Amino acid sequence: DDGYKYTRLKQNEVPVKRLPDALVIGVKKCGTRALLEFLRLHPDVRAAGSEVHFFDKFYHKGFEWYRDKMPPTLEGQITMEKTPSYWVTRSAPRRVYAMNPGVKLLAVVRDPVTRAISDYTQSASKRPSLPRFEELALVNSSAGWGLVPSVVDASWAPVRLGVYARPLRRWLRRFPRASLLLISGESLVIDPAAEMARVQEFLGLKRVITEKHFYFNSTKGFPCLLKSESRSTPHCLGKTKGRSHPHIDPKTIERLRDFYRPFNERFYELAGINFGWP
Ligand code: A3P
Repeated sequence: DDGYKYTRLKQNEVPVKRLPDALVIGVKKCGTRALLEFLRLHPDVRAAGSEVHFFDKFYHKGFEWYRDKMPPTLEGQITMEKTPSYWVTRSAPRRVYAMNPGVKLLAVVRDPVTRAISDYTQSASKRPSLPRFEELALVNSSAGWGLVPSVVDASWAPVRLGVYARPLRRWLRRFPRASLLLISGESLVIDPAAEMARVQEFLGLKRVITEKHFYFNSTKGFPCLLKSESRSTPHCLGKTKGRSHPHIDPKTIERLRDFYRPFNERFYELAGINFGWP
C-alpha cells in the first residue's frame, strides 16, 4: 500500500525551483555557451537560459531571489546556471561555498591569446570605432627604444582575463580540486562528444550526450547540434558564437605568447593538466 502511495506521489511530483547543484563559473569567451547548450541536451539537466550574475552583481538580493531564477526541476535532476564572470569575482568562491560546499564547478579554458582576440572581437562588434587589437594589447615601453610598442598591457581586460593561475588559486583555496572540472575549449570544438563524456561523468550523469548529437558544420567551422530540446532540426549556436577574428600582426601574437608562457606554466601546475597552448 505504501509502495503504491509512493509511486503515486512520484507520478504526481511537481517540479520545484532549487538552488544550483553545479555552476559553469567561466571563463569568458572560452566556450561557456557551447558547454551549457550541450549540457542541456541531457534530460537530467535543467539550466537557467541567461546569465544570472548572482554571485557577482545580485548577491544582496539573497538566495530566495536566486532560487527563483532557476528552472523548476524534478528530484534527481541537476539545476545549473552559467555566469563566466564568477571566475574572476574575488568574493565568489566564498559566496558559492556558503550556498553549498559540495557544489560542482565547471570552467572552460582556452589558449589565452585566442581568448583575448575573441574578447576584443566581441567588443569591436559593439563599438566599430575601437582601435586595432595591436594598439590596445601593446603599450609603448618607457625603456626608450622609441616608437615600437613592445610591452604587453597586462591591465587591458582582454589580456588580463587570460591569466588563469590567480583565479584558479582563489577557487582552490575554498574548494577541493575534485570539485572543479577544467574543460579545454579547444577540445570542446575538436571533439565535443569526448569532452561531454567527461562532463557527464563528473556530474554523475548517465552518458546520454554522445557523437549522435553533433555534426561538424563546415560553413560555420564549429560543431553544431542535430537536435535539442527546443528544436528538432539541425542548428548551430547563434551568430555571436564562432565569429571570424580579424588578422592580427604576428609580432603582436608572438609578444603575447611570450607574455603568457610563464602564467600558463603556473596554471598547468596548479591544474595538474597541460593544456598544450603554443
Ligand atoms: P569566437 O566567437 O571568438 O570564436 P563564450 O560562449 O564563453 O562567450 O565563448 C564563445 C566561444 O565559444 C567562441 O568564440 C567559439 O570559439 C567557442 N565555441 C566553442 N564551441 C563552439 C560551437 N560549437 N559553436 C560556436 N562557438 C563555439
